[in-house]
Amino acid sequence: MATKGREIQHVFLVLWSIVTILTVSVSSSQHPERIVAFFNGDCAVSNPCQHDCENINHQGFFCVCREGYYLNKDGKTCSVSVHEMFPEVSEEKPQRDEIYMGENNQLNSQSKHSIYESNQSKDKNSRLVNNEHRKVKNLQTDTSSEYTIHTVDLKKDVDVPPQLSELRIHEGGDSQEGSVRYVDLSMQNFPRKPVKLSVKQLCLDVVCQNNGTCVVEGNIPRCDCPLGTAGSRCQKYISVRYPQFFGMGYLALPVLKDGYKEFTIVVEFRPQAQNGLLLFSSETESAKSDFFSIALIDGYVEFRFDCGTGLGVIRSTEMVNIGQWNRVALFRIDNSATLRLNNDEPVEGTAKGEFSRITLRLNVYVGGYSNMSAISSRVGTRKRFVGCVQEVGINGYRYDLRKADIVGDAEFGVNVGECSQGICETVSCENGGICSIKSADSHVCLCPLGTSGDTCEHKHEIHIPRFSGHAYLQYEGLGRSVLTYTEIEVVFKPTTEEGLIFYNGYTKDRKGDFISLALRDSYIEFRFDLGTGPAKLRSLRPVAINQWHVVRISRTGLQGTLKVDDELEIEGESQGAYTQLTLLENLFIGGHANYDEMSKHVNISKSFTGCIQKVVINKKPLSIMEAAVDGVNVEPCKHPCDGTPCMNGGECVPQQDVYQCYCPLGYSNTNCEDRMRKLPSKPMFKGNGFLIYTDKKVVKRVTGSKIDLQMYIKPQDKNGLIFWTGQNHMKTASDFIALGFRDGSLQFRFNLGSGEAVIGYNDSRLFDGSWHFVRAQRDKQDAYLEIDGIEIVEGSSPGSYTMLNTNKMVYLGGMTDVAEKTLGKFTTGYTGCIKDITLATDFKVKLIGHAQSGRNVNQCTRRV
Ligand SMILES: *[C@@H]1O[C@H](CO)[C@@H](O)[C@H](O)[C@H]1NC(C)=O
Ligand SMILES: *[C@@H]1O[C@H](CO)[C@@H](O)[C@H](O)[C@H]1NC(C)=O
Ligand SMILES: *[C@@H]1O[C@H](CO)[C@@H](O)[C@H](O)[C@H]1NC(C)=O
Ligand SMILES: *[C@@H]1O[C@H](CO)[C@@H](O)[C@H](O)[C@H]1NC(C)=O
Ligand SMILES: *[C@@H]1O[C@H](CO)[C@@H](O)[C@H](O)[C@H]1NC(C)=O
Repeated sequence: MATKGREIQHVFLVLWSIVTILTVSVSSSQHPERIVAFFNGDCAVSNPCQHDCENINHQGFFCVCREGYYLNKDGKTCSVSVHEMFPEVSEEKPQRDEIYMGENNQLNSQSKHSIYESNQSKDKNSRLVNNEHRKVKNLQTDTSSEYTIHTVDLKKDVDVPPQLSELRIHEGGDSQEGSVRYVDLSMQNFPRKPVKLSVKQLCLDVVCQNNGTCVVEGNIPRCDCPLGTAGSRCQKYISVRYPQFFGMGYLALPVLKDGYKEFTIVVEFRPQAQNGLLLFSSETESAKSDFFSIALIDGYVEFRFDCGTGLGVIRSTEMVNIGQWNRVALFRIDNSATLRLNNDEPVEGTAKGEFSRITLRLNVYVGGYSNMSAISSRVGTRKRFVGCVQEVGINGYRYDLRKADIVGDAEFGVNVGECSQGICETVSCENGGICSIKSADSHVCLCPLGTSGDTCEHKHEIHIPRFSGHAYLQYEGLGRSVLTYTEIEVVFKPTTEEGLIFYNGYTKDRKGDFISLALRDSYIEFRFDLGTGPAKLRSLRPVAINQWHVVRISRTGLQGTLKVDDELEIEGESQGAYTQLTLLENLFIGGHANYDEMSKHVNISKSFTGCIQKVVINKKPLSIMEAAVDGVNVEPCKHPCDGTPCMNGGECVPQQDVYQCYCPLGYSNTNCEDRMRKLPSKPMFKGNGFLIYTDKKVVKRVTGSKIDLQMYIKPQDKNGLIFWTGQNHMKTASDFIALGFRDGSLQFRFNLGSGEAVIGYNDSRLFDGSWHFVRAQRDKQDAYLEIDGIEIVEGSSPGSYTMLNTNKMVYLGGMTDVAEKTLGKFTTGYTGCIKDITLATDFKVKLIGHAQSGRNVNQCTRRV
């Protein structure tokens, strides 16, 4: 046995007097790897590799790191490639020599120190003796690989580097295989004392910019770059939204204030290594007493915490998925906690001792900590996290992982990259679309109005907009038009439970006045702020998804109301003393172009998904598509109106899933398909029709100092405008004259410029289905209303004005946008019949003959 053993030792001696580097170009699945050192033994027997282990026939094995990593000096562990993190470095040759001092416990003790070079080295004293191409079959995985072995004979030249300055760096040039630097695998047998350089010496040439700090780890100097900078010398500026960690940095969130007794934590992360600190906070810098941490340890998630009297450790039952998104949810109350990784079973645990409160004075650290060695025994790892973090939520608050400026919660950090970097570089959006980052690993094309699709490839005309999550429509803001009173009606059909429907603000700095309507967890939320604190109104019940809803919101001064469909109206009040709402920024519907510019009191950052059919602001319908000044990713909402069902010039008006046709005068039926053989002599209206008169003979008998209007009516509905003339842009003091029903009361109203007269008559007998005679007379400010020749009501307008000045358009039966144009005095058009109109006692108006145009007018029938 002894002889055999010596023989084996001899073989190794021979083998290890030759130190081998493998330049692996794996032809099977992986990308080419970097230089690798190898060990004797067998992967199956002793596998020290952090990533993958490859056997080399019967001669030993070597460790391989996955794509984007390089093998560390120890030949076993892997670190993220600096070239991955700082892609621009590759042009710049490193300034300094570097020595990798290896732990050699895996190596044969007879081996001498060795200096490796890539075979691109122009070094004349090359110790390269052999390049051997090999094909190897991995018996375990049954995959084959190919690689070249460059062998260096150490006997030939055993000079040790006397000083670091004499060493020269050998970069692998442009070759795929990357760089080989010097490797010393056997410090023990180093003939002389190994070179030990101070941080100062090593950092001599490393000038870090932008407040970066030179640090030395494993004898390699590098720059620690503050949050917002990157590059080998921190020369580059980056903005971080989805932080990426390389095992050498961290990000600091504010100190957790409400975690004393209990907390819930949610972290979504994509690890690239099996070990590393993900989240940490503590009372002291060394975590000696109170602290908590979430770390990856050998691929498991470990939550550790200490309330001051003993450590609690909870480890997930399953391992994390390397390279994929994982979600860990944690709940701690007093000294017990529950941890759940992805969809695995929750694991419970407790901390020792009688204390149950955790005092935290340090920031919440994500991805690592400034001094890992100080806390490693407590958190269970010396390593920092490698990978991306997409979400950190504590106690229901989802942190904004951007740097704390106007937005963002990250107070400081070191060596943090951006996970989404470069995503848009390979994307091309068509038709003027712009690529935008959607999440840590996805993008979205922002398509201009009239285009849509993943790459904005579709072009179309839109009547009713459909929003698909990253869409919005932008309009001129409401400005000062809604100072004291605001009323908004929105008709929409959501496809998800959350999203912004309507927003208008005062500034872009997240403060001040705003008004918003949003869907959250299927509840409707109406919020507004007059500058001193928001009002928050929420619907009593969630609304059904994929159904149409009508929401009406209003505010008068501080008071707000919210009405959803037929539900009870909700009331609420904003804080503070201000009573006016000023909205100087643009108005947004369906989403927002930049959620960072929205008031923080809205607290929503998702865009609406679904269709928005109608928006009415202070009774004025918004021309959703025509009035938009900008828009992104808006698609057509499928609707029967798309097929232009209304014939003969009729207008299609969507009414949730169905539609209504507004037929021109002379046409009738559902789709205006019937041409009337005879124009109506006794017109009938259905709340949405009207006749317009601009004929001088009519107008002059309506305006001026007096009117005497006589007619017969057969009303059907307790609301509806019968007769109107007013001004183009109606204001409170604008001239008008009107006759119509309001809650069953027949009202004769007018304003000559100095105040309004309202003369009302209540009698349900008017709705008995027979004709009634109505006479409305005005002489200067004084007026009379006469019904059926007997009942007379009198009234007069205040002030001194006596003349009625209007836009010379007289409406019968209603008009477009009745509520807006009558300033809410009437809400709809008239329903019923009208006949025999006489003006100024003897002028018989030809109801159709004198009319300039009309809409939805039919002949009166016995059954209306
Ligand atoms: C190393 O040398 C071999 C043979 O001389 C050659 O085939 C290979 O491309 C070289 N590798 C590099 C990285 O230049
Ligand atoms: C560097 O730090 C100093 C002091 O903290 C600060 O005033 C300065 O603005 C920083 N410079 C850069 C480029 O960040
Ligand atoms: C890190 O912590 C260790 C142990 O507490 C301490 O000795 C060392 O000085 C600290 N390093 C830094 C850079 O603060
Ligand atoms: C913001 O909304 C989330 C839920 O979406 C909620 O948990 C959180 O408390 C809200 N924050 C504020 C300040 O309203
Ligand atoms: C008519 O009824 C309304 C409410 O329906 C009431 O406010 C008004 O005073 C009544 N007018 C007359 C003249 O009775």
